[in-house]
Amino acid sequence: MTQTTAAKSEVLSAHAREEIDRWLERYPPDQRQSAVLAALREAQHENGGYLTKELMDEVADHIGIPKIAVYEVASFYSMFELQPVGRHSISVCTNISCMLCGGDSILSYIENKLGIKLGESTEDGKFFLKREEECLAACCGAPMMQVDHVYHENLTPEKVDEILDKLE
Ligand code: FES
Repeated sequence: MTQTTAAKSEVLSAHAREEIDRWLERYPPDQRQSAVLAALREAQHENGGYLTKELMDEVADHIGIPKIAVYEVASFYSMFELQPVGRHSISVCTNISCMLCGGDSILSYIENKLGIKLGESTEDGKFFLKREEECLAACCGAPMMQVDHVYHENLTPEKVDEILDKLE
């Protein structure tokens, strides 16, 4: 019993629990479930970019809601990964405006540069080529991509190199 408790506290850090508590303060006591998104984001961030069942269970226990409610959110939103992936998540938009401005070429360039295909991570665990995105509402800056949820627009191969090469 003591061992289980110790192992659990190592999975969701004290810092993560504090962050979740800060979010919980923003909602009425009977709406604690509203903090799930923020809690999962924090847990994923601390765990190198993906969630484990143990982490999701701890989030559920900490918030005080059924585990299934957390699994539903984690499996619904594309921002959450349920398998180990590379540290830096790349999503290239290939919807119409980006496609017309060379989004497909940018995607191919990144695949060749990193030696991976869509949905794969590099062997060193540095990059995850997450998906071909639908329109991310930055058409004026086409072609564009998101790296770790930051928008990068008017991409060229040189600009892609500059963005990816400086990541640790
Ligand atoms: S089509 Fe790529 S951002 Fe709109």
